[in-house]
Amino acid sequence: ESENLNITLMDETSQLEVVLHYSTFEECDVIARSMTITNKGDQPVFIETADSASLDFGLQDLEMIHFYGRHNMEREYQCVPVTNGITEISSKRTSSSHQHNPAVIFKNPTTTETSGNCWGIMLMYSGSFAIRTEKDQHNQIRVSAGINPDTFEWKLEPGQSFQTPEAIFSFSNQGLSRLSKNFHQFIRDHVMRSPLAKKNKPVLLNNWEATYFTFTKEKLLEIAKSAAEMGIDLFVLDDGWFGKRDSDMEGLGDWDVNKEKIGDLGELIDGIKKLGMQFGLWIEPEMVSEDSDLYRNHPDWVIQMPNRSPIRNRYQLVLDFSNPEVVDYIFEKISAILRAHDISYVKWDMNRSLSDLYTKTLPADRQKEMAHRYVLGVYDLANRLTEEFPEILFEACSGGGGRFDAGMLYYMPQIWTSDDTDAKERTKIQFGTSFFYPVSSMGAHVSAVPNHQTGRITSLQTRATAAMAGTFGYELDPTSFDQEEKDLIKEQIAHFHDIQNTILNGEYDRLSHPYKDSYSAWQFNDGKRVIVHGIRYEKRPNSLRQPIELRNLNEDQMYKETKSGMVFSGKALMNGGILLPGELGDNYPFEFIFEALPEKNNQN
Ligand code: GLA
Repeated sequence: ESENLNITLMDETSQLEVVLHYSTFEECDVIARSMTITNKGDQPVFIETADSASLDFGLQDLEMIHFYGRHNMEREYQCVPVTNGITEISSKRTSSSHQHNPAVIFKNPTTTETSGNCWGIMLMYSGSFAIRTEKDQHNQIRVSAGINPDTFEWKLEPGQSFQTPEAIFSFSNQGLSRLSKNFHQFIRDHVMRSPLAKKNKPVLLNNWEATYFTFTKEKLLEIAKSAAEMGIDLFVLDDGWFGKRDSDMEGLGDWDVNKEKIGDLGELIDGIKKLGMQFGLWIEPEMVSEDSDLYRNHPDWVIQMPNRSPIRNRYQLVLDFSNPEVVDYIFEKISAILRAHDISYVKWDMNRSLSDLYTKTLPADRQKEMAHRYVLGVYDLANRLTEEFPEILFEACSGGGGRFDAGMLYYMPQIWTSDDTDAKERTKIQFGTSFFYPVSSMGAHVSAVPNHQTGRITSLQTRATAAMAGTFGYELDPTSFDQEEKDLIKEQIAHFHDIQNTILNGEYDRLSHPYKDSYSAWQFNDGKRVIVHGIRYEKRPNSLRQPIELRNLNEDQMYKETKSGMVFSGKALMNGGILLPGELGDNYPFEFIFEALPEKNNQN
């Protein structure tokens, strides 16, 4: 699908050969860059830094947009001037992390969503990374991106090679909107390899925020029955179905069904399927609790410094995935469940960062290979599971969106965007995520109010509007709802089924800046139908109604707004815009749907 250029360089002194790989994806203006280092000499060589790419901007005034965050608040937008010195966006957590996303944009200060130059750099990597920007004494700017050298080193024996992850570059001279579209198209067409990536996604109901760890088979079936009545396609059983796992302090690693709690898994799945839904399951394959049979039998399989107690996070330890024996074991356990049962969806979680980087399986002079080898172990398991079960929809997750990157999207076409399901907060998280990642990759659910993360109360319609900018679903206990609420959810699901193709497979545009504007608005456009969704955060008294300008329409095309029946030209919608609703209330949701009229209606 790409044109490729390899440039071979040889360092005579060290006898190292470096091949620079460039692949061009013309239709989305993307260049992928990586390198292979080969030891052609007769002595081992230690690689201390292996960046995937480096880019020189020369003399120009640049700003950097990056996406920082924390658990429940991932990919917060920040735009800062590039100043003299070195700025680093990075992770040392052996995951791409909540704290920084491995993707950065450079732009001129005058560049907007729709005009001006901007450059995007995204790493296809799920481990520790560093994107370093240096503005030197002459104000020249150089950016380098790759595996974080602080937690990396690699011993190359004579004849061996090391391959870096790929860095993905794109450029737009039509502003940020075009740049994002380039990345969305690239990820959907060239990164996601799941055959399900471009299919419509099932509307799911996940039991996590409905029950947490406290459930029985009966309770699950009760929730599922209600879900089925409302039109849900897929029921997901989250954490707590295996081993002895009634809290986050125990059970991880014991991937056997807890029959005392949920009975026979096959019978539960049959019960769900009889209700007309598919069934999905949560796993966290990289982790282990000390209170588990796996830990008791294999204490040597966890990541831990010799002679020191391990650092716990969420009470759990990390399995040493740099050790192929551990990956083989976990593959056998998880694949046995997937082989034995009719499972349509798997949520692969990862709920802590790595620390104590040490492995018993490598000699002293290879210890700093461990972090990268861990990521390769994760990819190996992901590869084996997704190859054996291509019909299963895999969703990645890491305490919400702590591993939202193109490396995971290669194996799993969607990722749980954040554990924060608050509608207002979500519009900001999804805004930040949208600069690089397509809507179809973002898991988004309607949850209960008061919201479990913020305590905020928003209407069901507000929550659904926010969640429809992703792979739509619910994460609540529908049995507690009254008939009116159930009817509304039923309508929402039917509506999403109707418009999902435009949402998931159309082009996406940001229509506001939710950090600056008093509302968040966004647009989906599949050429035939244009949908504007949004939430007005705050209603000030007696304020003028705000116009929202649509983007990237055909100027002369006529569009009919479906509720009012009014017809507008693309030019009018892009330059005059449509007015935000005037209704009272904070966090007020809105929707406009425009159908493109046949050509004979078009005007010049
Ligand atoms: C993480 C996930 C949640 C849920 C819990 C279960 O926090 O992000 O969605 O699956 O783990 O423990």
